[in-house]
Amino acid sequence: MQSTELGFEKPLAALGVTQAEQITARFAGLRAHFDGQFQTVHAESEWKLFRDRWLGRKSGVLALVTDNWLRPSTPELKRAVGAALNDLRSYVESQIESRRLAIESGADQSALAHEHVDLSLPGVTRPIGSHHLIRQVFQEIEDIFVSIGFSVVEGPEIETPYYNFEALNIPEFHPVRDDMDTFYLDLPKGAPTPLLLRTHTSPMQIRTMEKRKPPVRVIVPGKVYRRDNPDATHSFIFHQVEGLAVDADITFCDFTGTIEYFVKQFFGPGVKTRFRPSYFPFTEPSVEFDVSCIFCGGSGTAASGGTCSKCKGAGWIELFGAGMVDPAVYGFVNYDPKKVSGFAFGMGIDRLAMLKYQIDDIQVFFQNDVRFLRQFP
Ligand code: DAH
Repeated sequence: MQSTELGFEKPLAALGVTQAEQITARFAGLRAHFDGQFQTVHAESEWKLFRDRWLGRKSGVLALVTDNWLRPSTPELKRAVGAALNDLRSYVESQIESRRLAIESGADQSALAHEHVDLSLPGVTRPIGSHHLIRQVFQEIEDIFVSIGFSVVEGPEIETPYYNFEALNIPEFHPVRDDMDTFYLDLPKGAPTPLLLRTHTSPMQIRTMEKRKPPVRVIVPGKVYRRDNPDATHSFIFHQVEGLAVDADITFCDFTGTIEYFVKQFFGPGVKTRFRPSYFPFTEPSVEFDVSCIFCGGSGTAASGGTCSKCKGAGWIELFGAGMVDPAVYGFVNYDPKKVSGFAFGMGIDRLAMLKYQIDDIQVFFQNDVRFLRQFP
């Protein structure tokens, strides 16, 4: 501020002011100066400096005008100076105050703009995973068997040859072991027994019967391993559900009735089942269960008129192995084969899932490509 021009640092007399009109002009100059400066004051920090410059008690412009112009002026001029000073003061004060309000509400506005929450915007949705299809199929199977009195047990994936083979009536040089080549663990020399990744869930038949007295009705879902080369129907890791029912008087009819009930619940009431003689060391008799082809309805003919590629025209699809528990197995668990009888089955879950959900490559279960997984929310 060029105070020399405005002159409030000197008494009026020194400025040569002797007339009321001159006083008016002096105050008009001050006011114009105030207005000019005031235009540039917007930020709160500027406002504070500006307020102090004009209203500061000791060296504010108005304090200096009071000291230099009002106090020393002659009694004749004092009135006019006092009146003009009062006008200027109330003008300056009201301008400064209204700018303060404007700055505050402006700050409020911009703070509001930052904090404003638009309740109509969609919320932040976090992607939620879902169960893997294999887990879903496990659940479907468990629900069906639990509804008819089975309970669910799980067992170790690392097994001893005793549980995986011997106690299931598969002695060391039995040719069936060739189909179940698996992964053996590297153990320190002198380990009490070799350990292997179980090739099927059947060891849990033995572990369950060792622990429980009949009646036994369990299913065993879980992972199993074989040294198979991966292709569309083979994987070195896959999933099975074992079933075992042993009681005083379980017959072959109970067995087929239970399996038929399960298959119809799982695939729908329209499917037919059949069984064919088969061979497993731990069941006698052993069967292979088939289901009427769910793709061609059992006709063997595809919708196009050609041979159904899924059942290759047979009208039947092989589902899983099963049978009446071989009496030799009871010998391993101290059950009396004369007093108890029962059935067992072992289903490949990946295969059941592939059939039910029309998936033609087992590898997709293990690749975990979300484009596949998302199809089964
Ligand atoms: N454990 C057999 C396999 O993995 C499947 C099987 C067949 C299980 C017959 C059984 C059964 O319980 O009775 O090939």
